[in-house]
Amino acid sequence: MCGIVGVTGVGDALPYLLQGLQKLEYRGYDSAGVYLTDASGKNALIKEKGRVAKLAEKAKANGFAGTAGIAHTRWATHGNVTVENAHPQKSSDDRFFLVHNGVIENYQELTETYLQRVHLVSETDTEVAVQLVDKFSKEGMATADAFRKMISLLDGNSAYGFLLVDHEDPETLYVAKKKSPLLVGVSDHGNAVTSDAAAMIDLTKDFIELRDGDMAIVKPSSVTIYDAAGEQVNREPFTLEIDPEDTDKGAYPYYMLKEIDEQAVVARNIAGHYYDEDGNLQGIPCAVTDAIEEADRLYIVAAGTSYHAGLVGKRYFEQWAKIPTEVHIASEFAYDQPMLSEKPFFIFLSQSGETADSREVLDNVKKQGFPALTLANVMNSTLTREADFALPVLAGPEIAVASTKAYTAQVLVQAILAAALGNPGFDLKAELAKVAVEIQAITDEKETFKKIAEDALVGQHSAFYIGRGLDAAVALEAALKLKEISYIQTEGFAAGELKHGTISLIEDKTPVFALLTQSKTAGLLRGEVAQVAARGANTIVFASENLAKEGDAFVLPQVNELLMPLLAVIPAQLIAYYATLARGLDVDRPRNLAKSVTVQ
Ligand code: F6R
Repeated sequence: MCGIVGVTGVGDALPYLLQGLQKLEYRGYDSAGVYLTDASGKNALIKEKGRVAKLAEKAKANGFAGTAGIAHTRWATHGNVTVENAHPQKSSDDRFFLVHNGVIENYQELTETYLQRVHLVSETDTEVAVQLVDKFSKEGMATADAFRKMISLLDGNSAYGFLLVDHEDPETLYVAKKKSPLLVGVSDHGNAVTSDAAAMIDLTKDFIELRDGDMAIVKPSSVTIYDAAGEQVNREPFTLEIDPEDTDKGAYPYYMLKEIDEQAVVARNIAGHYYDEDGNLQGIPCAVTDAIEEADRLYIVAAGTSYHAGLVGKRYFEQWAKIPTEVHIASEFAYDQPMLSEKPFFIFLSQSGETADSREVLDNVKKQGFPALTLANVMNSTLTREADFALPVLAGPEIAVASTKAYTAQVLVQAILAAALGNPGFDLKAELAKVAVEIQAITDEKETFKKIAEDALVGQHSAFYIGRGLDAAVALEAALKLKEISYIQTEGFAAGELKHGTISLIEDKTPVFALLTQSKTAGLLRGEVAQVAARGANTIVFASENLAKEGDAFVLPQVNELLMPLLAVIPAQLIAYYATLARGLDVDRPRNLAKSVTVQ
């Protein structure tokens, strides 16, 4: 979704802002803009539809770099994709400039009540916010008070991350946030504000996480923070532990391919983090296992790919830890809470830790007094901070919109947590070492999957992934990967359900990918493959070594059956990647999608 960066006192502001925007590009956007200024008040506002590269060209041609500035990537919600609607938005007299992430629910009422006489040039809720600051300032309020008053008028459901500059005090950044992530980056050569720490790592690795309701005043060499009650507070910075190189593509054409390839290393890193050299589990505090052991049921709550990872994790918690487990889609659970057990324990799964749907559920759950654990890739994120416990998923920065390594990492960490709560009945650490080797072996077969993708999918408008048991769970993720980036409508299906309706969609050459790794149902699945083949489908079977037959498209190396999802998903990721390339689309930035969905 939208991204925010701002800097002050950094010498030459433009390169930091442009690099920051480039690092935010992966989150999804459709226009971008930058406002630059310096202590003398000289300034420039530049906005563009489309790519940050286009904005960068225009900004460099302008020639003014500034010592402070704010910048934004916009993902349209209120108002079309136009230059007028891009941020920064400004007040009518060019005094205030504002970038905003989130949605102001009552912006129309505010316009009617306060801005009848103001000519609004955009269709955005953000312009309403900046015009309100201007109005209150004209009525005699100091800028910080006008900013605070504007915020106090926002509907309680509104989400915001605001970054404001006042032309009359150009090197001061006014910051506020609620339900939308915002961090202050601190350094001895200037300060920064950003919605994603990775966007500012060229300036600093030290960040202060703002909390909901906070307001901050950021100057070149000072940061002052006020909490929701208006009290000045001291918040300690944390140091971000990422290498700037982790967020670069290196020699890869797309982040997605780099991240698919990183999965073997991620698997090893996770095992290295959660096991000591003697094979003993570590890194899961007793407080976490004790709290889960008191529960009579686990509720895994997540969205999209993370939800699919939860469907696999359920099996580990039930089979190894013997705890009944339900998996729920966050956006559904949030407004239709199912009947809960007497002692529920919640597990939130999230790559970003910022997904608004999951946050809504966590809020509700906390209000009801239930314990919660977040497994997230981005630690220090809202879901990790607001849950009682948090464990890292350790996939490393995931930039491509389509999630790959975060899925395998989430499955792995759930397996380890379930092993800490019970007994898998085999040496999980040794088996995970094998999984890492076999992930590597599959990712080395890129040419095979490129050919399968090109042969089966070019010219097709629909496809299916089918499986039974854990393979049905992986089929959902496989289908999501293919459809979200290639735009080929793909259904992931529990194979036994085909005959209850969906089989009528099978036409001549319809690609049907079958995942066949579970011995209990292998015979039935073979039958279902034969049924769709008899109706003209182009069947492509990925079977595990123990179950493979002649004619299968690819034989997956054999590991413990319950861990096969970690291998079965890899061909699907590569097929999605190559099918998308073959269709000439941007793999990392599918249309209409954002990496981290911070609005409900
Ligand atoms: C798909 C994808 C999304 C996310 C979903 C939840 O490739 O990435 O479906 O899984 O938006 O996001 P997180 O895991 O950040 O909560």
